[in-house]
Amino acid sequence: MDITRLLDPAVSPVPFGSEMMDPFGRSITYLRVSVTDRCDFRCVYCMAEDMTFLPKRDLLSLEELDRLASCFVEKGVKRLRLTGGEPLVRKNIMHLIRSLSRHLESGALEELTLTTNGSQLARFAPELADCGVRRLNVSLDTLDPDKFRQITRWGELDKVMAGIRAAQAAGIGIKLNAVALKGFNDGEIPSMIEWAHGEGIDLTLIETMPMGEIDEDRTDQYLPLTQVRADLAERWTLRDIPYKTGGPARYVEVAETGGRLGFITPMSHNFCESCNRVRITCTGTLFMCLGQEDAADLRAPLRASEGNELLSNAIDEAIGRKPKGHDFVIDRATRKPSVSRHMSVTGG
Ligand code: 5AD
Ligand code: SF4
Repeated sequence: MDITRLLDPAVSPVPFGSEMMDPFGRSITYLRVSVTDRCDFRCVYCMAEDMTFLPKRDLLSLEELDRLASCFVEKGVKRLRLTGGEPLVRKNIMHLIRSLSRHLESGALEELTLTTNGSQLARFAPELADCGVRRLNVSLDTLDPDKFRQITRWGELDKVMAGIRAAQAAGIGIKLNAVALKGFNDGEIPSMIEWAHGEGIDLTLIETMPMGEIDEDRTDQYLPLTQVRADLAERWTLRDIPYKTGGPARYVEVAETGGRLGFITPMSHNFCESCNRVRITCTGTLFMCLGQEDAADLRAPLRASEGNELLSNAIDEAIGRKPKGHDFVIDRATRKPSVSRHMSVTGG
């Protein structure tokens, strides 16, 4: 990239320090930072068993991740989510979280949170709570230990359950995310909802998205949530509620359990019109949309100077071309993933 171009005010549509607004009038207040592409699981819809991860030298240091995230906070990001891979397998991750918590203390940031597979939570929950983490999303696709091992290839359900308990004991609110997978957990969705709601936990179902080469055929995995919802509505009373967590989930309240159930439907319903987010990878690449290939390198401007002006301009330029939406396709004719990178690059 020609760095000097970023100093040209004609290139950056938004002046330094002001709120980030994309070309469709969406205000960008939410940043997801993938702190590692590595994971201690190999979920079958997410990764191939034999994954090649980035060499460690390509990763941003924890200090660089901090600078990058903090620049976004300065530019109006109010909610920050760390993801992976599995964020808690990054070495010394608590240094970063502790450091970022200063933005909660100053009031610049409203929320600091993580999406985790829960495997390391038993160890980290108290410290996360101490850093001001109030909520966590835990990915959990089944409550059956054998099926859990099958879907994650390497995971142990007991550890995740212990992690969830530890987080709750530390006063952290848990939300569960389950990817709906045809022939795998469709029959189990009602019992998962009952369990979660019995524990006072919200559960959100997610449609599988065609991201990255995996070992299986996604057409066999794809389960439209319109169908799941229709099935659930035969058993329970589902009432649409305006509840929002700032993400793309639409919520219903299940009258019989009194709990909330969310649906994230990137395939069967497009929610891009209210998108408020961008994502950075652990190498400092900014993705303006989960479902598109376009990206901007922020590592070069980050490293080019100690001040944040180049970086800030590079961010503005990228936000200035945030696309209107994604166009995911899963069918027998489309063999290739819509997006070549795996979810573990941008962390969902
Ligand atoms: N489609 C949908 N969700 C996915 N996840 C990982 N890969 C995919 C995919 N291809 C989910 C994980 C986790 C979240 C970060 O993304 O299960 O809940
Ligand atoms: Fe790891 Fe999450 Fe991917 Fe599973 S879905 S392999 S837990 S990053």
